[in-house]
Amino acid sequence: MNRICLVYFSPTGGTKLVVSTVAEAMAAELKLPLEHFDITRPAAREAEYNFSADDLVLIASPTYAGRVPNKMLPEFERLVHGEGTKAVIVSVYGGRSNDEGLRELTLLAENKGFNVIAAAGCVARHSMSGSLAAHRPSAKDMEELAAFGRKVAEKALTKPEPVKIDRDTPIAPYYKPLKEDLTPAVFLKAKPQTHADKCIACALCAEACPMGSISFDDFCTVPGICIKCHACVRCCPTEAKYFDNEELLSHIRMLEKNYQGEQDNLYLI
Ligand SMILES: Cc1cc2nc3c(=O)[nH]c(=O)nc-3n(C[C@H](O)[C@H](O)[C@H](O)COP(=O)(O)O)c2cc1C
Repeated sequence: MNRICLVYFSPTGGTKLVVSTVAEAMAAELKLPLEHFDITRPAAREAEYNFSADDLVLIASPTYAGRVPNKMLPEFERLVHGEGTKAVIVSVYGGRSNDEGLRELTLLAENKGFNVIAAAGCVARHSMSGSLAAHRPSAKDMEELAAFGRKVAEKALTKPEPVKIDRDTPIAPYYKPLKEDLTPAVFLKAKPQTHADKCIACALCAEACPMGSISFDDFCTVPGICIKCHACVRCCPTEAKYFDNEELLSHIRMLEKNYQGEQDNLYLI
């Protein structure tokens, strides 16, 4: 093996933190260099990424509605290519449920020529909420993630068997979000709003938007599609960006009421 590569989509940084922690432990154990391929921004998705049998690749994505984000699934398929390349899958979720996220990304990677030797489903702060899984990954999570990385590194040095995961059951449909009263929440068309008086035109929101949907001429307008990733809300230094869609806000309140319990990470080697 020549290098460890990380390929990730991470609008609000939780996925990047989790996968980097695993990868850094692997790199230290194997004494290999690390290369980041951050495909969050549209410009990074203009290239394709081909990996060889000499690479060890970590592929990571957040879970949206219980699966790989629907706008990113075809992007991972289009951009990331293996050739018998050993891979580790990291699927990150915000404390409700990982549902099919880990399995879907694992099966996608296998279809794209990777030999998936390990996989992890890990909790990070819910990007839509200030309180849900707010302190994750915790110090304990970080230790576990590094220990997982060291174990995977050991496995990578052998002739590794593919990870044991259910490959037969079809992937279940997307989770349907609910409002506080537990009726369906419909917020597909919601877009972030801007307190114009707070906006300092720093352009951070437009640069952070993974869909390139915020106008660089007028940061208060969002002509493109919104995937509700909250990157613009989280990165704004003056808290100018916010969502006011009542169905979305009710869904977030429902999550905060019902999913405050601690979720364990899942490690498959
Ligand atoms: C649109 C959207 C849908 C989400 N759906 C789920 C979900 O189904 N289950 C869950 O536990 N977390 C869910 N989350 C939370 C994210 O998976 C979690 O916050 C993740 O850490 C975000 O990754 P990032 O920080 O790399 O952007 C969702 C977040 C967003 C923005």
